Amino acid sequence: MEVLKKPAFNVSIIKWHKKFGRHDLPWQKSKDPYHVWVSEIMLQQTQVVTVISYYQKFITKFKTIKALAEASEDDVLSMWSGLGFYSRARNLHAASIMIMKENSGHFPDNFQDMIRLPGIGRSTAGAILAFCFNKPYPILDGNVKRVLSRVYGITTPINNSRTEKKLWLLSEKNLPKKNIDIYTQAIMDFGATLCIPKRPICNICPITQTCVAYVNGLTTQIPKKNPVKKNEIKKTHFYIYEYQKQVFLVKNRSGVWNGLWLPPNEEIKLKNKQIIKYGHRQSVFSHYKLVFEYTFIKALAKPEIKLKGLWINWQDIQDIGLPAPIKKLLIELSP
Ligand code: ADE
Repeated sequence: MEVLKKPAFNVSIIKWHKKFGRHDLPWQKSKDPYHVWVSEIMLQQTQVVTVISYYQKFITKFKTIKALAEASEDDVLSMWSGLGFYSRARNLHAASIMIMKENSGHFPDNFQDMIRLPGIGRSTAGAILAFCFNKPYPILDGNVKRVLSRVYGITTPINNSRTEKKLWLLSEKNLPKKNIDIYTQAIMDFGATLCIPKRPICNICPITQTCVAYVNGLTTQIPKKNPVKKNEIKKTHFYIYEYQKQVFLVKNRSGVWNGLWLPPNEEIKLKNKQIIKYGHRQSVFSHYKLVFEYTFIKALAKPEIKLKGLWINWQDIQDIGLPAPIKKLLIELSP
């Protein structure tokens, strides 16, 4: 492997970052691992522009690990409503409880203890160790995979495990001896703003001369990805019951919306009712598409519902953990 031929890569990236990198992101103001942890989890599957306001609201509401651990899962999920990939929020909450129990509320400062926490993998641990503790650990998120595979001209699919192993090795080899925090932010920013997926901005890139993909005219072919399986379609039906300005919801206990509130999937026999509307919507997730139909029913007499759930005032649906497409639908249906 020709790794050591390019020792200047990290130096060039750090230099580039000084002038063109991102320096004012809210989580960069802090070296507190709690803040950086929350931001890194939010940024795992969501872009910076979306994350900023969620991050600020989350940290304002849960100021410390202790506050997060003491919050209810409902409260945590309601702060996450709209960000998607809700297992991230459930894991954050579970990890905060573990940190309180096992480490008196102190976020761990070493790799082994960090990756034991739910939701923290090698790359997230690497980022927190670099940003908060100045420790030389590599990261390998989607941006970094793209940058390294182009720089080194890796033509095998980046989503196969052998390539991933190689990329981890390259990420490790490129770590600078100092300024690990700046380098880590720099390679993230470089991938997010310059070495972007479709049309990398090579005409202003400082490292084209040593970029194998650029030199060989392969920037649009690299990174190569194995085709993902054809997306599955799942179908479901929601029954939205209204009675006296309240709507009935149940706590969902499975799948990607685990822990969030939803209208029931079952029809409830009502004698006195008025069907207001039928419709359908769809939500696209990373591995499947959910097509859901809904029926909006007004109960004209108090319904006897055996399901465990909650009647909530229409105006309060903003304050509980609901998946974004369901919240949007309920807001549209509300009086
Ligand atoms: N993506 C993941 N972590 C990030 C960070 N710290 N800054 C910008 N984008 C990121």
